[in-house]
Amino acid sequence: MYSKRLDWASPTNALGCLLARKRTGGEPLHDLTQSNPTRVGLDYPDPAILTALASPAAMAYDPNPRGLLQARQAIAAYYADQDLHLSTEALFLTASTSEAYAMLFKLLADPGDEILIPRPGYPLLGYLARFEGLRAIAYPCRWDKVRGWSIDLDVLEALITPRTRAVIVVSPNNPTGAYVGPDTLAALDRIGHARNLALIVDEVFADYPAPDTPPFLTCSALAGATALTFVLNGFSKMLALPQVKLAWIAVGGAPPLVRNAQPRLEMLLDFYLSAGTPVQHAAAPLLALRHRIQDQVRARLAANSRLLQQRVAQASHCRLLPRQGGWYAVVAITDAFGDEERVLTLLERYNTLVHPGFFYDFNREGYVILSLLPPPDSFGAGVDLLMRLGSATA
Ligand SMILES: Cc1ncc(COP(=O)(O)O)c(C=O)c1O
Repeated sequence: MYSKRLDWASPTNALGCLLARKRTGGEPLHDLTQSNPTRVGLDYPDPAILTALASPAAMAYDPNPRGLLQARQAIAAYYADQDLHLSTEALFLTASTSEAYAMLFKLLADPGDEILIPRPGYPLLGYLARFEGLRAIAYPCRWDKVRGWSIDLDVLEALITPRTRAVIVVSPNNPTGAYVGPDTLAALDRIGHARNLALIVDEVFADYPAPDTPPFLTCSALAGATALTFVLNGFSKMLALPQVKLAWIAVGGAPPLVRNAQPRLEMLLDFYLSAGTPVQHAAAPLLALRHRIQDQVRARLAANSRLLQQRVAQASHCRLLPRQGGWYAVVAITDAFGDEERVLTLLERYNTLVHPGFFYDFNREGYVILSLLPPPDSFGAGVDLLMRLGSATA
């Protein structure tokens, strides 16, 4: 009766079961995977947000497949602040970035086609591809002490087949925090051009560089794109408001490619019209609040990152991988545990939750992923317990 898109037999895993048991038992947890920004004690400007969402104009339904013009103008103004001058015609609104991926997969690929995704990377991408009947093929991002993270472009090119339709890059990547810098973007642009592929560049964490990340690294892929390029972003991370549901696709590249793509995307979105009217009317006033919200998120990320650095420096079995941006940290751990055993033992014994590297498709054991958003007290306590667990066995 059901499609094969959902492998519904296997949504549970040992960590999920243990977590459910702990939660049912009401035990207080140090949740170092918490990445819901509305649950980490940020001081949002509630009245201004709620007033923006209650515009009387929201009572009229004026459907537009690209999204309301004033919302697109507000988003274009966000890019203009970075010296990127976009036409409002290049912007297409959706309810979320995840939905934007689904729309682009429908636009670009037929069932059985392939898209390239980063490894390690955001676990949802493989599922989103599968829901559209596509094959997600992982290309490697490699880490070494000298260069940090980089995309292995030779392997990426070798993975391209006649069925490949698009290359996805996430900048900064989740969870590695590595920005895809201008040189790599230029190389990907050449590959896209030469092999007739689209680039999908997910910039949802782009506004969260680490304090010492050079600004040239954080520049949007829209600057200088010649291959057909779709940049994704949205309020979920940019404003730390995942519940308001507004995201967008910005189309870039050589004008003939863009002219060809836009009407097709418009037609596709016309079947869904999923961006809500209240949030579209709120786009300009919400974007005006972004510095106030982002400053708090950045302060939280910086504080937890410093704390983690200090703790890791005192633990000979742990190493913190350098992070250029985003909301996550990767800790390399050398102890006697396997990855699954480590996270299960940490949760069972110390009520502390972290994600194992294999959730993000790390190609070897020995990594845990932490969200840097939790309140510092709980984050610090959880990190201490993580260090204690390994030091007993290292
Ligand atoms: C890299 C990346 N892209 C997209 C999303 C989803 O964003 P949205 O809430 O807009 O669907 C996430 C959520 O964590 C993410 O990590």
